[in-house]
Amino acid sequence: SKAPVRVAVTGAAGQIGYALLFRIASGEMLGKDQPVILQLLEIPDEKAQNALKGVIMELEDCAFPLLAGIEAHSDPMTAFKDTDYALLVGARPRGPGMERADLLAANAQIFTAQGKALNAVASRNVKVLVVGNPANTNAYIAMKSAPDLPAKNFTAMLRLDHNRAASQIAAKTGKAVGSIEKLCVWGNHSPTMYADYRFATIDGQGVKDLINDEAWNRDVFLPTVGKRGAAIIAARGLSSAASAANAAIDHMRDWALGTNGAWTTMGVPSKGEYGIPAEVVFGFPVTCENGEYKIIEGLPIDEFSQERINVTLAELQGEQDGVKHLL
Ligand code: NAI
Repeated sequence: SKAPVRVAVTGAAGQIGYALLFRIASGEMLGKDQPVILQLLEIPDEKAQNALKGVIMELEDCAFPLLAGIEAHSDPMTAFKDTDYALLVGARPRGPGMERADLLAANAQIFTAQGKALNAVASRNVKVLVVGNPANTNAYIAMKSAPDLPAKNFTAMLRLDHNRAASQIAAKTGKAVGSIEKLCVWGNHSPTMYADYRFATIDGQGVKDLINDEAWNRDVFLPTVGKRGAAIIAARGLSSAASAANAAIDHMRDWALGTNGAWTTMGVPSKGEYGIPAEVVFGFPVTCENGEYKIIEGLPIDEFSQERINVTLAELQGEQDGVKHLL
């Protein structure tokens, strides 16, 4: 049987954590033959640490055969020790009256410290997924704070946007969501992201031809996907948690176990693909194989798509400029 791998999760006592940890421990992320040790991080605050203890009691009570160990931490320097996978979920949410600059600064502090800790103690092959918002910029900060780790190990979660787009296309075409291929989402995990079905197919048929409605793309599809997070908050009174956890599982599983040639979307540091400046953590279409993602290159970008990509890139560069002096 396989040796256990170490999976660190931050914000482990939060909403997403509660929807995520049990699925990691049951083998849905890394495979039903892969034992895991969970290294859980929460803030030192007594209430958060107590809540974490409760979650750990429940994990124990599931008696998961693949769960080879559980640790509770309040310091990233111990939480990330030798970790093979790090899911950075905990972040500072926007409080009442908080300006965007304050939000960026609070998160810059968290992700600088966590990037440094990963740099110091994590496995040299650690795969990092940032879920906590602003996810792309937080991933950028962690990456810049970990100069001894390969930049490509730092990714941000665009998969929820990708899955939301797939679900809207399935509803529009009346086809099974699992039959959609070659869909992608460009840019920032924010309402500016550009969900792009120009290359998508269903059973070999082009989705663009199947839908054949550019007004729907522009006026219904893109706003629906872009504002889906806000729609869920309005309906549920809380932000998406189970679907976010599900997307995190999908992202890590595909990265670790491969996509068999299928496209998916990951937020990854650019190396200049599609004219995106180097190091910007940007949603790109990728395939995964042997534990590595590869950006799909050479796709034609039409005028409408270029405009959308420019908007989401400008937003990301604005965020990046807003934190540069803090790094
Ligand atoms: P939550 O507030 O329920 O839980 C967050 C947890 O993180 C809390 O328990 C908090 O104590 C902890 N935390 C805060 N700072 C921490 C730190 N420095 N180290 C360790 N733990 C820390 O929030 P929820 O709903 O679980 O969401 C978490 C994050 O995920 C938020 O930033 C949210 O905006 C983001 N999100 C991202 C999505 C994406 O698609 N990228 C989708 C949905 C949510």
